[in-house]
Amino acid sequence: MHRTHHCAQLTTADLGATASLLGWVDTIRDQGGIIFVDLRDRKGVTQIQLEPHDNAQLAEQLKHLKPESVIGVTGKVVRRPAGTENKSLPTGEVEVNAASLEIHNISDTPPFPLDDAGGDKVNEDLRLTFRYLDLRRPKMRKNLQVRHRATKSIRDYFDSQEFIEVETPALFKSTPEGAREYLVPSRIHPGQFYALSQSPQQFKQILMVAGVERYFQVARCFRDEDLRADRQMEFTQIDVEASFVTREDIYALFEGMLKKVWKDVLGIDIPTPFPRMAFVDAMNRYGVDKPDMRFGLELVDLSETFRNSAFKVFQQTVAGGGVIKALNAKGLSDITQGELKNFEDIAKSLGAKGLAFIKVEGGEWKSPIVKFFTDAEKAELTAKLNIGEGDIIFFAAAPWEKACAILGRLRLESAALLQKRGKLTIRADDWKFLWVIDFPLMSYDEERQGYAATHHPFTAPVPEDAAFLDSDPKKVRGQHYDVVLNGMELGGGSIRIHQPALQKKVFEDVLKIPQDVVESRFGYMLKAFTYGAPPHGGIAFGLDRMVALLCGTTSIRDVIAFPKTQKGQCLMTQSPTAVTPKQLKELHIATVIPE
Ligand code: AMO
Ligand code: AMP
Repeated sequence: MHRTHHCAQLTTADLGATASLLGWVDTIRDQGGIIFVDLRDRKGVTQIQLEPHDNAQLAEQLKHLKPESVIGVTGKVVRRPAGTENKSLPTGEVEVNAASLEIHNISDTPPFPLDDAGGDKVNEDLRLTFRYLDLRRPKMRKNLQVRHRATKSIRDYFDSQEFIEVETPALFKSTPEGAREYLVPSRIHPGQFYALSQSPQQFKQILMVAGVERYFQVARCFRDEDLRADRQMEFTQIDVEASFVTREDIYALFEGMLKKVWKDVLGIDIPTPFPRMAFVDAMNRYGVDKPDMRFGLELVDLSETFRNSAFKVFQQTVAGGGVIKALNAKGLSDITQGELKNFEDIAKSLGAKGLAFIKVEGGEWKSPIVKFFTDAEKAELTAKLNIGEGDIIFFAAAPWEKACAILGRLRLESAALLQKRGKLTIRADDWKFLWVIDFPLMSYDEERQGYAATHHPFTAPVPEDAAFLDSDPKKVRGQHYDVVLNGMELGGGSIRIHQPALQKKVFEDVLKIPQDVVESRFGYMLKAFTYGAPPHGGIAFGLDRMVALLCGTTSIRDVIAFPKTQKGQCLMTQSPTAVTPKQLKELHIATVIPE
């Protein structure tokens, strides 16, 4: 049987024609003798119909088909009887009156329902074990299509801007200063290893030295990280680098790309340029460097209010150089004991000693700490936090970064609870893009007692700050930028260092990497920079994360055809697995399995 139409194609324009459709049996209904089969293919569903007195033998065959079997049906396209049309289907006004049937494969009963609602209820492990069935669900099929549309749109965009796609190696050299990497043993160099590329960062910079000027790549990256909803060990970046550009050029380039993707995929015009916020402001107001701007609930600094407070916890924190920050979770005074306990646990997991709060109920401030506050302090609190009936105010007294992080998390938790109670609306399709800029170039790592690059060591300092690289690296802002959407870090990049002397200084004098290590890891790059490296910069963003947001899901596993579980396993193929002693021997590897 040769397919003449797909299952979303036939309409009243085809009435009387003979059609052959191929696909999967979606449902079978026997209604008072008349057999209805919904036939499904990648495009949609068409109703097949047969009355037994037309062909009793064929009707029997149809009736006993099993859902998900693969069949072909030929028959005449007829109008559905008045009143039985299905307005929600493009083929809903017609049906195919079966004349012949071809059975390609009978299906076993699937282990879970393949409709959206049924599939959403089952355990994700089951869906991942039978991913080929899960991907038959309309929602998952749509997700794959959105991913394709978005990727195509991005390729077209960069092509139109005269960028060329260049592939860079997945087998790279080990660079232990980034995320943990996957090592690949070399068979022909005993005891030596490649590492799977965490990002094409170094190669794309080398491409700039090579004079490519405008590069992009849909690049697979590998990082041995703890997996989460927005992290996979293997993920895809849209990776970009350009020569002779400023930060402004990259902002405009990327805004143009996101504008096109949103238009092509969702038909939506997103406003550009995106707002910009300095890292310090993002932390102060939202407690994170990737603020969700769809709602307020901003943090407030009260360090000055409590500098001389009778409440010792606050007074001593300020005296010790820390800060007092507060969050008014407006309208959440009905928080339950369990929810409050959870808030305390979160605060403690982030290093808080406790979680002071004030509940405003019946015009009264209910809190173990208000007794320490003067009237002036209370008045200042009321004004700064806009305190009213039904509010609950949380406090964090800690070093600045910790206080921000604690209340930043509680801000998100509060928003979720307020939304659950119908007191706040946060829509998935309320697109709030934001550039976060002016990150510190270096952060001080207390444990290691040294500096670490905030983004990566190739990021250039803001020119007017570069003078402090020797005296006070903490003061130096980097030419780094992140693009954030609805609380998710979509991407990040920077203008790079292109002068070999400055790059060497950052490695050796600021990051304190020993000279021989710098030479063995980055020697080739420093060398390349001595042969005419143009000024350059770029960005990379997570395709999986962007597609997840476009699809309205919070898990990137939903937009990856074959993702790994949180434990890093592929349940369908059952990997990872042990390998044979022969394979190990060939690779010069001995394994030591912990007890
Ligand atoms: P960065 O490490 O910030 O930058 O990565 C860029 C973007 O990649 C996505 N991403 C991930 N997505 C899914 N799973 C993961 N495990 C994962 N890790 C990162 C995020 C992130 O914003 N070479 C630099 C970019 C540059 O400077 O041009 C880089 O890789 O969306
Ligand atoms: P205490 O005087 O230690 O009993 O603390 C009084 C209240 O302040 C309790 O609700 C504690 O949970 C809270 N608290 C203690 N330390 C901090 C802190 N660093 N930040 C915010 N609240 C705190």
